[in-house]
Amino acid sequence: MSREVVAILDFGSQYGQLIARRVREQNVLSRICRAEISAEELSKMPLKGVILSGGPASVYDENAIRCDEKIFELDVPILGICYGMQLACMTAWASHGDQIEDLGDNFTRLATTATCPFAAVRHNKKKFFGVQFHPEVSHTPKGSQILENFLYDICGCAGDWKMSDFAGETIEAVRRQVGKDTVICGLSGGVDSSVVASLIHKAIGDQLVCIFVDNGLLRRNERDHVVSTFRNHFHMDLRVVDWSEQFLAKLAGVIDPQEKRKIIGAEFIEAFKSQASKIPNAKFLAQGTLYPDVIESGSKNGNPAANIKLHHNVGGLPEQLGFDLVEPLRDLFKDEVRVVGEYLGLPEEMVWRHPFPGPGLAVRVIGEVTKERLEVLRAADEIVIDEIKSAGLYRKISQALAVLLPISTVGVMGDERSYENVVAIRAVETVDFMTADFSRIPHEVLGIISNRIINEVRGVNRVVYDVSSKPPATIEWE
Ligand code: XMP
Repeated sequence: MSREVVAILDFGSQYGQLIARRVREQNVLSRICRAEISAEELSKMPLKGVILSGGPASVYDENAIRCDEKIFELDVPILGICYGMQLACMTAWASHGDQIEDLGDNFTRLATTATCPFAAVRHNKKKFFGVQFHPEVSHTPKGSQILENFLYDICGCAGDWKMSDFAGETIEAVRRQVGKDTVICGLSGGVDSSVVASLIHKAIGDQLVCIFVDNGLLRRNERDHVVSTFRNHFHMDLRVVDWSEQFLAKLAGVIDPQEKRKIIGAEFIEAFKSQASKIPNAKFLAQGTLYPDVIESGSKNGNPAANIKLHHNVGGLPEQLGFDLVEPLRDLFKDEVRVVGEYLGLPEEMVWRHPFPGPGLAVRVIGEVTKERLEVLRAADEIVIDEIKSAGLYRKISQALAVLLPISTVGVMGDERSYENVVAIRAVETVDFMTADFSRIPHEVLGIISNRIINEVRGVNRVVYDVSSKPPATIEWE
């Protein structure tokens, strides 16, 4: 446990996690707490300050969440953001019998805008501050400066917490949670499951068994790469299940994208179970759930809006096999997971790998998924990624991929007419993958990719570039 912590009282929007992340960026450990946490509970922490988050409700709502009023008597600075500011002012006003319409005698206005008379306020005697805007969002220009001032100048934080402390604390927490039992981890080779596996391996060594399912829908050399990294380099107990024939048999003749996903999800569970059942004493299942996977913030803190999206790959598994979950990354955002991955010494290409969907290339072969079509796509996909890396664009682009379309178009090869497949290239830039813009890849690079695919991949005579944004288009085509 760090020597200092800032508590974030979560009033039920997604802002709590974002504030936590901004506080971590300032090298201060934060703990997200349910809004109703008692002052007494808070005072047991090495508390340096409290932040009251924004929230979707109005403070005037009958059911609006309140915090324990005694928090205002704890001797720590408080920053109220938006809803949190209104609540802080109201509580302070109400308890001092002041008027709500104006600031009363206890607060001083620090900032106004044309539309907001009290954009920032401070209490005259105590260290209570309120801002009506959101300093935690990236488009508030001086937002991080405001948080820094609060954390350092007002709360007096030392700022000695680092992301590597997260790894240390989490490793300890996993040890405590797991005891002497065995943990199973579904390893896909993506950054999230790789970081989870490494963290847990550091915590419990051989009590961790990783399962890699080869669904036949992987990129070229993906399986070998995962095996050589985790088995040969990190010496983990990694079991590979080759279930590709079963996946492809079930997918035969299937065109509907949702149907494909359902089949792949169900088959994954079968494949995983076939291995997991061979591992005695397995009590826990490790999952790479990240904060954005937890749909509503505060769910683990008992927020009524709680609703957790299980990782699509292993959804249903914990119930079916009676596993308890180990989810060491569930408070983190993707870029923070990468920092942890680097700290753990994972190879760079794994830490910075673009996301790859659980259903794999099946949702990129539009129409029926066959071995032959998968091979065509694999070859095109490898060229896309190679060339984007050679052009130094891999880190700038959030995700790049090739899609094999279910149409043929006419072309000329030498003097001959051809009638062959079309490959679409998709590359997007995004922060959160909820919205995305197509990447402005230089035409020269697109030209090289197109030439190479048409020359090197048999069965393709046309390449197109996808220039749609999300929304309305999604990143994947299916
Ligand atoms: P969309 O296509 O919805 O994708 O814009 C957003 C991000 O999610 C990835 N994706 C998936 N990841 N299982 C996953 O693990 C899935 O079923 C799945 N579908 C889409 C997609 O690659 C992109 O990064």
